[in-house]
Amino acid sequence: MEDHRILVLYGTSQGQTRKIAQHVKAYLAERGLAADIYSTNELPPALDVDTYQAYVLADPVYMHKHQKELVAIAKQHASHLNTVPTAFLSVSLTAAHSDPTSRATVQKCIDEFVEETGWKPTMVAPVAGALSYTKYGFFMRMIMKRIAAKEGNSTDTSRDHELTDWQALDRFLADFVQQLPTPKQGKPELSVGQV
Ligand SMILES: Cc1cc2nc3c(=O)[nH]c(=O)nc-3n(C[C@H](O)[C@H](O)[C@H](O)COP(=O)(O)O)c2cc1C
Repeated sequence: MEDHRILVLYGTSQGQTRKIAQHVKAYLAERGLAADIYSTNELPPALDVDTYQAYVLADPVYMHKHQKELVAIAKQHASHLNTVPTAFLSVSLTAAHSDPTSRATVQKCIDEFVEETGWKPTMVAPVAGALSYTKYGFFMRMIMKRIAAKEGNSTDTSRDHELTDWQALDRFLADFVQQLPTPKQGKPELSVGQV
């Protein structure tokens, strides 16, 4: 097995959490860290979740709750997840706001997720998702527009609005990478021209 085999698992309905998970994989790859990435609804049957050395799980919030598919996976594998470096990205619109009430709302969702799954992530980040108006049906678009107006988000339903702060996510990932064990030292390679 390679050093630092990392598993990135995500749930998504409108696609923003997939984009976030793909960003995580790319960030790790740029630092020479190999990661496999799967969506919770297309896990290969042969995947042995418990064999990885570190994990990043990302999941959106719908109706104040994380999606049941990722909850089930985290619960099933909590005993292994609790022994290795792990990060949980809780994706929501509320995470775009930093006032105390929004922070408490996001934290409540995360606390309930942790309590329900028994998985205690090494690191947790609330990550702002997207208002994906073009992907909602008519009634959902109207409902989301009303919620957005109340929360001070854009009500322009002619396009999607990405609220994800990619730089904040990168700072979080930089801290996560620090948690990973240093790779085993291989034999020093002979380089041509060196004496
Ligand atoms: C029907 C619906 C319910 C939602 N419920 C919440 C919620 O309770 N709290 C919140 O902060 N965001 C909520 N959101 C916003 C989503 O968390 C956000 O759009 C996220 O980016 C969705 O991720 P996805 O694109 O990966 O599915 C909701 C969105 C929809 C469409």
